[in-house]
Amino acid sequence: MGFNVGNSILSIQSKALPITQGRLLDFPDDPFACMRRLYQAHGEIAALEEGGHRLIFVFGPRYTQQVLSDSKTFHSRFFALRGPKNSAQRRLTSGLLTMNGEEHKRHRRMVFEPFQKKSIEKYRDALAVLVEQMLQEWKAGQVRNIARDMTQYMLRVTSSVLFGFDIPELAFEIGRMTERWVGMNHELGMGAFISDPGITGAYSNLLELAEKLEAQIRTMIAHRRASSTVGNDVLSLLIRARDESGTGMTDAELIGQAAVLFGAAHLTTANTLTWTLFLLAQHPEVASGLFDELTGVLGGEAPTLEQLEQLPLLDRVIKESMRVLPASCYSQRINAQPVQLGPFHLTGMTPIIFSQLISHRLPDLCSQPEHFLPERWSTLTPSPYAYFPFAAGPRMCLGATLAQMTLRITLPVIWQRFRLQVMSGASINAKVRSTMLFPTSGMPMLVSPISVPFSSSNVTGNIHELVELPETARSITALARAA
Ligand code: HEM
Repeated sequence: MGFNVGNSILSIQSKALPITQGRLLDFPDDPFACMRRLYQAHGEIAALEEGGHRLIFVFGPRYTQQVLSDSKTFHSRFFALRGPKNSAQRRLTSGLLTMNGEEHKRHRRMVFEPFQKKSIEKYRDALAVLVEQMLQEWKAGQVRNIARDMTQYMLRVTSSVLFGFDIPELAFEIGRMTERWVGMNHELGMGAFISDPGITGAYSNLLELAEKLEAQIRTMIAHRRASSTVGNDVLSLLIRARDESGTGMTDAELIGQAAVLFGAAHLTTANTLTWTLFLLAQHPEVASGLFDELTGVLGGEAPTLEQLEQLPLLDRVIKESMRVLPASCYSQRINAQPVQLGPFHLTGMTPIIFSQLISHRLPDLCSQPEHFLPERWSTLTPSPYAYFPFAAGPRMCLGATLAQMTLRITLPVIWQRFRLQVMSGASINAKVRSTMLFPTSGMPMLVSPISVPFSSSNVTGNIHELVELPETARSITALARAA
């Protein structure tokens, strides 16, 4: 595997600058293929240009640091299509991911409190109960789509821990709509950027979907407001949050923050859980070492907060999984003022993409980057701009501590309870959609009791382009483990 230069991007290279003339829509069509071609052609900074429009890409720590640490110059523009004033689309896109400057700082301070470590620790018990409830439905001998299970589980976690209610149907509905809405925003955002006339009809569909999604989020907020108990969930804390001048959030602001939190939380964490379970299942030695660590420290139970500090292999597995198959693959900034970025002098508002998916597999970060090798993390200490699954700098993921805790409670309970084996011959495919890495054809896994040996399976699909998997099915027997 390597970064092969394909030919779908028309390669008329500029002599002076690292620019590839090509089709801008190649990027949203297949972000991984497009970015690796650009990296292969130009290295750590490159531009894709069509008809005078330019997208800049930065790979690796040098320029990623410049872009992520200078939030004054490089603004976030997660949602390009803000919709008309007073529209649902405008309110839904008004969350943290869209804000910049003082407004971003003020809101980040207000939203921060529920995400501090001491607030997050209160959710440990709720997580342990929710994972237990999920596993009650799992029976040995079943073939389960683990991707769907993880998404539904995360919708329950998000709705109860973040929003203080547990109406699964509403959570699933909001989850489905959020996923579609975020996806449409990304597709149309690019169309708008290159003035594609095809987007007009789709734009009105987006506005319609935004209205429906907003109505559901309003129901969720109303449900929380109507509750007689003072909740410790994130939404209750946001409803009560005040800035330094004692001002709280308006309903419109609350809707924007709630939409971002709902979307940012459940899909990223669900995909990380799915990819980690897949990687474990395909690497029996790691899987069995993890099982031994977990049962040795936890004895079959969910970790307590103290025990979370005693699971080094679990930490390495999660770090490595988020390196090789990062849930968040890339994101975008736009320069709000003229700036020199490497060889480019950017005057107007130019979109700049930074990418975990490419940066995490550069040879400067580690050897054999396409292999899943958790042990490398016993010595690997990269800069926060070389390895950045949650981004870095002043806009680093606000939910990183919550996501980490969710992963570190959920995975041990599953891993101590059942053996999971990917169905032999299954087609496993990964696609970047709306900046996230989705398992697009599900994750069919056989659920077995823990007496069954660990064994990997031969799978097909484009997953082999992203990670080097053991070639033949391998099995670690209980005997071999004992030895
Ligand atoms: C494994 C799970 C997660 C991953 C990989 C992840 C990744 C990221 C990344 C890369 C960013 C930066 C995006 C950018 O700058 O354009 C981000 C921002 C953000 N994330 Fe997460 N995230 C995860 C879970 C969560 C959770 C659980 C929450 C909330 C409950 C959350 C809330 C946010 C918020 C509010 C921001 C915007 C921060 C700002 O702009 O100031 N994320 N996340």
